[in-house]
Amino acid sequence: MDHKKEYLLNFKGYNFERSLVKMNIVENMDDYEIRDDDVFLITFPKSGTIWTQQILSLIYFEGHRNRTENVQTIDRMPFFEYNNHNLDFAKMPSPRIFTSHLPYYLVPKGLKNKKIKILYIYRNPKDVLTSYFHFTNLMANLEAENSMESFLQTFLDGRVVGSCWFDHIRGWYEHRHDFNIMFLSYEDMKKDLRSSVLKICSFLEKKLSDEDVDAVVRQSTFQNMKSDPRANYEDIIKNEIGTRNEEGKFLRKGTIGDWKHHLTVEQNEKFDKIFYKNMKNIPLKFIWDINEE
Ligand code: A3P
Repeated sequence: MDHKKEYLLNFKGYNFERSLVKMNIVENMDDYEIRDDDVFLITFPKSGTIWTQQILSLIYFEGHRNRTENVQTIDRMPFFEYNNHNLDFAKMPSPRIFTSHLPYYLVPKGLKNKKIKILYIYRNPKDVLTSYFHFTNLMANLEAENSMESFLQTFLDGRVVGSCWFDHIRGWYEHRHDFNIMFLSYEDMKKDLRSSVLKICSFLEKKLSDEDVDAVVRQSTFQNMKSDPRANYEDIIKNEIGTRNEEGKFLRKGTIGDWKHHLTVEQNEKFDKIFYKNMKNIPLKFIWDINEE
């Protein structure tokens, strides 16, 4: 069995995407200069990152656009460790809003000053797994896996960008008191986008008018983002990173419970056992089905 994935770069026990990661940032992460009003969106991959990037960038930029109309989301809210477009972070105007998949123990020390707001978006891991399986097969820079059976093991072993899902969420949750962090689930956003946007605004201390909240919600729906080239990453995945097939999209299904179409009964039972063992002391709420209350 293949245990080594060439596209992964392991640094201090965590897997980065080798061709995209900026080692000059990662190696100097600890003391990276952080501003009190920086905001970080933290996710495990495939948990709703680009969705929340869209929401946050609308909250911060839309009302006072300052000619940001045509700026892609990734440049409004760059990935900290990947800095895809080599932006000069030091020159970004405040408040800077960053996106990151980093585990709690690798982020700059400055994030512990409790002024920095961190939004952690999590998603039920069976849907993360399902989304990741399709993404792995779509993206030319990742290693394709021909069956869910083999990808399930890869995912559980943490041999993916982001490493082990359980370690990521548990690490952040168990160290939540070291940070000013709010946890919100993909499923909560899916079930009630408007009240999720209001929760996010309240955490960020951003007061938006009802009309502005409506505008954020309208522009953050799956359908809208799918057709908005600034928001759907089409350009980045096709022209900058490269895909294996033309039809594949970053915004694939955007639903809760798609795992039911992809996991066998045995795979599901295996997952449940591991989930229970790892998560029994973590009181975060998980929603596995669109009809669940
Ligand atoms: P699916 O593959 O299940 O469709 P990330 O940005 O962290 O990589 O997560 C990608 C997942 O978020 C994909 O899941 C994508 O479709 C979903 N997504 C992106 N925008 C969304 C939106 N506005 N509403 C619901 N899901 C969205």
